[in-house]
Amino acid sequence: MNSTDVAFKCFRVSEKADGDSSRFIGERSERKLSELPPGDVLIKVHYSSLNYKDVLSANGNKSVTRQYPHTPGIDAAGTVVNSDIAQFKCGDQVLVTGYDLGMNTDGGFSEYIRVPATWVLPLPVGLTLHHSMVLGTAGFTAALCVEKLIQTGLSPDKGEILVTGATGGVGVIAVALLAKLGYTVTACTGKHNQESFLKDIGATSIIDRAGLAEPSTRPLLKERWAGAVDVAGGELLWNILKSLQYGGSVACCGLVGAPTLDATVFPFILRGVNLLGVDSVNLPLEKKGAIWALLASSWALPKLETIGTDITLWELAESLQTILEGRAVGRMILNLSRPN
Ligand SMILES: NC(=O)c1ccc[n+]([C@@H]2O[C@H](COP(=O)([O-])OP(=O)(O)OC[C@H]3O[C@@H](n4cnc5c(N)ncnc54)[C@H](OP(=O)(O)O)[C@@H]3O)[C@@H](O)[C@H]2O)c1
Repeated sequence: MNSTDVAFKCFRVSEKADGDSSRFIGERSERKLSELPPGDVLIKVHYSSLNYKDVLSANGNKSVTRQYPHTPGIDAAGTVVNSDIAQFKCGDQVLVTGYDLGMNTDGGFSEYIRVPATWVLPLPVGLTLHHSMVLGTAGFTAALCVEKLIQTGLSPDKGEILVTGATGGVGVIAVALLAKLGYTVTACTGKHNQESFLKDIGATSIIDRAGLAEPSTRPLLKERWAGAVDVAGGELLWNILKSLQYGGSVACCGLVGAPTLDATVFPFILRGVNLLGVDSVNLPLEKKGAIWALLASSWALPKLETIGTDITLWELAESLQTILEGRAVGRMILNLSRPN
């Protein structure tokens, strides 16, 4: 493919001076392939997905994206159109999640990306390109959390598992996956009208987020959770740690509540609980491939289509705003196969 002058569409975020500060404006725009960064593999993106980190990038968070103009999108699934290395051939279906994609490398909110081959996974057998983006980084992270919990010895007979941010991207997949694997899942949510959706994807019971995040000066709370997946951090994570059963574990992957943890050592030294850190971005590609293979086989989720909603580039700015305001439910997939 002659890659120098092909025009394509993307969602481009620009920084505009506004007095002493800046405004960040994201809009559908057009670029040329020659403007993409260098890399081994040129990919025609069929689908991307929306994640919390994309919202940060689109809103000028410099700890995510240092330089603008920029194309966010930490996920991409599509077909190879040009490859400098033998491992990938034209027409191969592939998947890219994490590393620097969409952070400081132009990302998946674009009809094309060009990336290093070391970021690219062949699409696992059993997953479609669309399904892979219904999961996306959020689903992949949920799977990593579940894997870490299982590695500590967690099994369904140990008791209830709590999932925070249950209607969000990581949360919905964590609820659905844990339920599929036979766990009893309590979904913690701030959205009181989503009980039937959460029960439909596998939650056994629902718990109110505000109640669970209530500050308490007590060093320990009543033992309840055998395990937990937490996207919130802050007071909510601290209360979870204080109410884990003896030897229980919480997989910590997010900071939507707060990036802080004001804690004591009591739950650790009196109940032997575990705080498990989860990072989906910089895992070795081989490990990423193993988790994706699980999601395509024994961990495949039956109701994926009910969890995801497709949008186009025209709807992207508004959809990112929905996530920013904590109003989103389930996963949003950017469908670049449709007219954009
Ligand atoms: N470590 C990693 O590699 C990794 C990977 C992916 C994501 N993350 C992080 O995980 C977090 C969740 O990502 P996501 O893509 O699932 O985001 P998301 O789709 O925006 O979902 C977050 C959910 O958290 C809940 N929530 C909103 N405000 C809250 C608050 N103040 N306190 C507690 N809960 C709140 C909401 O669900 P309810 O209304 O149902 O409560 C919301 O839908 C983010 O911090 C993200 O950066 C980390």
